[in-house]
Amino acid sequence: MSLKAEIEKRKTFGIISHPDAGKTTLTEKLLLFGGAIQTAGAVKSNKIKKTATSDFMEIEKQRGISVATSVMSFEYKGKKINILDTPGHKDFAEDTYRTLTAVDSVILVVDVAKGVEAQTRKLMQVCRMRNTPVIIFVNKMDREGQDPFDILEELENELQITTRPLSWPINMGRRFKGVFLLHDNSLNLFEADKTKKAADYVQIDNIEDERLDKIIGEDDANQLREDVELINGVFEPFDVSLYEEGLLAPVFFGSALNNFGVQEMLDTFVKIAPSPRPRPTDKREVEPDEKKMTGFVFKIHANLDPNHRDRIAFLRVCSGTFERNTFYIHPRTGKKMRFSNPYTFLADSKEVTQFAYPGDVVGLYDTGNFKIGDGLTEGEELVFKGIPSFSPELFREVVNMDPMKSKQLEKGLNQLTDEGVAQLFTQQPGNRKIIGVVGELQFEVIQYRLEHEYNAKARFDSVNYHKACWMTGDKDKIAEFIKYKPQDVVLDKDENLVYLAQTAYLLQMAKSNNPEIEFHETSEFKVSMA
Ligand code: G4P
Repeated sequence: MSLKAEIEKRKTFGIISHPDAGKTTLTEKLLLFGGAIQTAGAVKSNKIKKTATSDFMEIEKQRGISVATSVMSFEYKGKKINILDTPGHKDFAEDTYRTLTAVDSVILVVDVAKGVEAQTRKLMQVCRMRNTPVIIFVNKMDREGQDPFDILEELENELQITTRPLSWPINMGRRFKGVFLLHDNSLNLFEADKTKKAADYVQIDNIEDERLDKIIGEDDANQLREDVELINGVFEPFDVSLYEEGLLAPVFFGSALNNFGVQEMLDTFVKIAPSPRPRPTDKREVEPDEKKMTGFVFKIHANLDPNHRDRIAFLRVCSGTFERNTFYIHPRTGKKMRFSNPYTFLADSKEVTQFAYPGDVVGLYDTGNFKIGDGLTEGEELVFKGIPSFSPELFREVVNMDPMKSKQLEKGLNQLTDEGVAQLFTQQPGNRKIIGVVGELQFEVIQYRLEHEYNAKARFDSVNYHKACWMTGDKDKIAEFIKYKPQDVVLDKDENLVYLAQTAYLLQMAKSNNPEIEFHETSEFKVSMA
């Protein structure tokens, strides 16, 4: 198959949701459709169970499961679909944000009773930064929830995206009868059947068809007619190009648990979801069908077993064909690298691969060379854009507890922060080290790993900071700013200046008193300035 055909065949996406909305359940149903798994219950939730939040090893065990399910691939209707898994726990949110840089589109799952929740908002912000096309699945229609029109309004208001329903629910909860497919006047009638593999659609002539009254009852038929009239009056017809630009989200209703409403979404997904798209770099846009291979690392997973200190770097291929045992260049260090056992993933297993194409993700054994955002090319020195660090919200000072092991501590901190577990800031003068994380659990992860993998002992002391913001702008003004707040301005690992604001109020003051300085909440500016 030609490279172009391989590219067109691929659809790489992520499923995002607030925990408990049904991401794992939906993933599993998609795999069932793809024939990648045979039974329900085969996909382990990567969700960290609520009861285990204080037990770090338990969390790691569960997180281990997510290595295997980091990427799940299956074939459906002639397409190769790659689902990149995103951690459900909010303390690993940064992992999720970065995974979203490696997808071409997303499916957002919302619970019909709960609507838009905190994580939904954050994840959608990341999608909007990159204009990622979004399909929305309103889940748990077999339970009582909000009125579907209210849900759409909430989605539009809170997520600032236009919506367009493509299926419409007939009642909900115990009285849920199914969905009406607006584009082709067919009905998908609800059956609570968790193992059903394909939907049986009932075709009617149009919404006025009398058969509708017989099938779903007069009351529901009349309500549906009213709803459809309103939808056609209020919503513009679905425009695929607006979806591709990330401005318009088609919406489906269903019940993932009952594998209901999933097929029509998947059928639409394979038709409209984008194949691998061009990727911006600091130099130029990389087109997927360029002959030369390029890719970037969006995730690094460490092996916690002390006998196997290797890590797996997840590389998203952006152009050309990735080949096993071929030399590539790691532009950040100029090193030549060759991989004898790159693997790709199939549902919940992985296998060594000879080739991988744009949109695919390959797992590469790494002994510490890669850091998040690194590229791999055939020689060209380019940096892929759009793999930002986000402003951490929790901070601690690292205090070395064993002066004989300061080298180990330094190495450990460097490597762990390369993996994206945390961000490291250094205060000058004094060399005081402050780490910033998105979720509290990360501190436990770091402490444990420093001790077990690097043989270093550190204490983490509380420091009172609210947010870290990268600073750019007028050099003299920045120098003046530092003079007044020498304790609060630190350097990140790449020696960029970062303001650690003690409170939201102080950050606001700093912004309004220093209009010549820009305070960035993501490190994305670094790449765009390069
Ligand atoms: P997540 O990955 O987004 O965190 O959610 P997950 O799929 O694990 O689903 C969260 C809970 O919601 C699960 O119940 C799951 O069975 C349930 N669920 C998912 N889809 C539907 C649906 O369409 N209808 C209904 N009624 N429930 C749904 P749980 O009790 O937390 O877990 P489990 O014991 O069932 O695994």
